[in-house]
Amino acid sequence: MQKEYVMPCVEVWHDIVFVKGKGAVLEDTDGKKYLDCFGGVAVVNAGHCHPKIVSAMKEQLEKLTHLSTLYYTEPMPKLAKKLSEIAPMDRGKVKKTFFCNSGTEANEHAVTLAKKFTKKNEFIGLQCGFYGRGGMTMSLSGLGAWRGGLGPFMPGVLHAPAYYCYRCPMSYDEGPPECDYACVRYIEYMLKTETSQRVAAFVAEPIIGIGGCVPAPTDYFRLVKEILDKNEILLIVDEVQTGFGRSGKLFAIEHYDVEPDIISMAKGLGSGIPIGAITAKAQIADSYLGPHFSTFGGNPLSCAAALANIEVLLEEKLTENAERVGTHVLNRLKELQSRSPILDDAQGKGLMIGIEVISDKTRKTPAKDDILTTIMNESAKKGVLIGRGGLFYNRIRFQPPLTITQEQTDKALDVFEEAVKIAEKKL
Ligand SMILES: Cc1ncc(COP(=O)(O)O)c(C=O)c1O
Repeated sequence: MQKEYVMPCVEVWHDIVFVKGKGAVLEDTDGKKYLDCFGGVAVVNAGHCHPKIVSAMKEQLEKLTHLSTLYYTEPMPKLAKKLSEIAPMDRGKVKKTFFCNSGTEANEHAVTLAKKFTKKNEFIGLQCGFYGRGGMTMSLSGLGAWRGGLGPFMPGVLHAPAYYCYRCPMSYDEGPPECDYACVRYIEYMLKTETSQRVAAFVAEPIIGIGGCVPAPTDYFRLVKEILDKNEILLIVDEVQTGFGRSGKLFAIEHYDVEPDIISMAKGLGSGIPIGAITAKAQIADSYLGPHFSTFGGNPLSCAAALANIEVLLEEKLTENAERVGTHVLNRLKELQSRSPILDDAQGKGLMIGIEVISDKTRKTPAKDDILTTIMNESAKKGVLIGRGGLFYNRIRFQPPLTITQEQTDKALDVFEEAVKIAEKKL
């Protein structure tokens, strides 16, 4: 039915219809069970259908489901207060939030707010970064496959080199310290040659998500922030994919000891319930007095779900679980990479891990599509769902619910290893 009635631009990875989910396990129409190692694109951090989130929603569903941002409701300011408490900047001070419905919208709003505060109107995005499918977000995105044929893009957008050390855009064979952060020095150079006075903000994911789960090197954000501060440019971190425990910290920017000015969020904020948000330092938020509005932004149901979700993440120590189980997964993938001719560059933080699939290790040649689809399909046949992404769409991504246990990941990795062996024979 989907093929007949849904637009063909919607990419579908498997011919399976899913009907149920609990924790990290999904079930299809035949009752077959799957270990979900992609979490609906890194969304269901608290696991599928967590009972506390379900009951918070049921309770809210009986009371009030919609009014828009034009009216006060109970859950929205409660959630804004909670985000103020956990946002990793201006600790101890109030931060303010605007709610919307998705990651795309969150980034569009973040850019709008930065324009209002700085009174400047140009932006720097990251090559290999992905920010969404709106006018500005698509322009900021630096993944060619998503932009193909869709231009012209918004003027006033610059792209900084990706911190993708395995395929360094600055042509270094090794990442830092060998390269001395050439990609950061390029930003400084770019600002001098392009004019820094017009740039309002640098918008970056702390770990490139759709670009293949590639974390920024250790000192990247500290060095970038020094340049931004010198030029009075804001730092907007896109935590749409990395936020809410995914990386082994509540927000991935906390790995880098740097404070952002604005954070955009979605995905893991609702653990499966659509919601987007930006949280900003109060002085930045207060510079924008509107008019601003969102029909579904701050929806009572979504906010009730997000509040319950944050409670679950904290109570069940899911961030810590992501760190512990993620380290185990990364170690196993690194070991597997050392034995397989088609795997390389396993990297990640917490449960946000990517590994390169290549056809030639010396040349780092990206593997062809059929190798990747073989790995994904063979894994799915044996009940394991994994993701993919990357500049060449050749990185396998492990981003399961943060409730996943080490035993479950071991089962999933055994299946992945078998699938890789089948794919190796196709080389
Ligand atoms: C880092 C990042 N930002 C923004 C988006 C866009 O979010 P949405 O699909 O909710 O619009 C995505 C989507 O995958 C993302 O990974």
